[in-house]
Amino acid sequence: MLRVAIGLAFRSFSTCSRHSTKVSVLGAGGGIGQPLSLLICSNPLLSNLALYDVKDTRGIACDLSHINTNSRVSLCYSGSEELEECLKDSEIVVIPAGLPRKPGMTRDDLFNTNAEIVQSLAKACAKYCPTAKVAVITNPVNSTVPIVAEVFESAGVYDPRKIFGVCTLDTVRAKKFVADLKGVNATTLHVPVIGGHSGITILPLLSQITPKLSLSSEEICSLTERIQNAGTEVVNAKAGGGSATLSMAYAGALFTDALLRAGKGDPVVECAYVESNITEVKFFSSSLLLGPEGVTEHLGFGTLSAYEEDKLRALLPELDRNITKGLQFGKQ
Ligand code: NAD
Ligand code: LMR
Repeated sequence: MLRVAIGLAFRSFSTCSRHSTKVSVLGAGGGIGQPLSLLICSNPLLSNLALYDVKDTRGIACDLSHINTNSRVSLCYSGSEELEECLKDSEIVVIPAGLPRKPGMTRDDLFNTNAEIVQSLAKACAKYCPTAKVAVITNPVNSTVPIVAEVFESAGVYDPRKIFGVCTLDTVRAKKFVADLKGVNATTLHVPVIGGHSGITILPLLSQITPKLSLSSEEICSLTERIQNAGTEVVNAKAGGGSATLSMAYAGALFTDALLRAGKGDPVVECAYVESNITEVKFFSSSLLLGPEGVTEHLGFGTLSAYEEDKLRALLPELDRNITKGLQFGKQ
């Protein structure tokens, strides 16, 4: 048995594993796309990594193809005429294509540009790899996931178990911020984060941290706000240079690893933003049991504290507006 040395929580693996999987990254040349492709390419459950971007990714593909993993990195695909070749036989498609925020912008301010990008990529996925699991990173996630769902629905190939908004960065941050505050190990904490992926729609369930930790109400308020505004913290720190890329690549690689492990039959529990009926809004992020076909079971969010119940009530109308905006755009 070997273990990947890059520090990600990839499981130990057998050198004679026979499972093979193709993953495509759309937007592979970007700030997230490049480190994400690097981390995915190191995943032992991968057999083929296909990189796509509207800009030339040949250099990136060549660079990655020199790493001594057992996976094969496909030559780059640039330009929409090459999307078919990239997507063909993909079991997982990860989408970080699109503009990032600058200081002063909300994620919703990205809608006008990114909705079109995601819609066109979703149309290609629905056509060339309709049964793939699609993991959407592009913001505003609260609206881009409904767009993908609507495109798949219109093409007659929608399977709600397989379309995901990646919210893993929220759980990664929640673990790190709690661990830093309380002086505990960030790698062994579990903090569920539910709702959506922007501002008040991000709701960390600090009453459900495991192993159990005691937090004062002031600590709960300040941690909740920090987790909700962590994306803006990075956007402001980068001062016009974009938003989170490295931490997002780490989180995106963790989520891809979860899909890869679930795909080969391991039961995996992960939070993600999917079509859901556990609240009155159509898409919601919560803990999910994942299996080979995607979501096997929605695990809900257990009993909330009074503080969390208030926050949940407050976030639902905003999340619903974001969802409606995405669904309406996706129908076009
Ligand atoms: P970036 O500008 O560095 O990279 C985006 C890449 O997408 C570029 O290489 C660009 O050429 C490519 N692209 C644009 N249109 C395309 C198309 N039609 N097809 C293929 N590729 C296309 O941006 P980034 O920092 O990598 O961020 C990407 C997106 O991820 C942004 O929308 C950002 O807001 C979002 N994001 C989401 C999370 C999350 O937690 N879900 C976290 C961080 C960033
Ligand atoms: C994040 O949470 O870092 C991303 O959604 C990017 C952003 O715009 O904040």
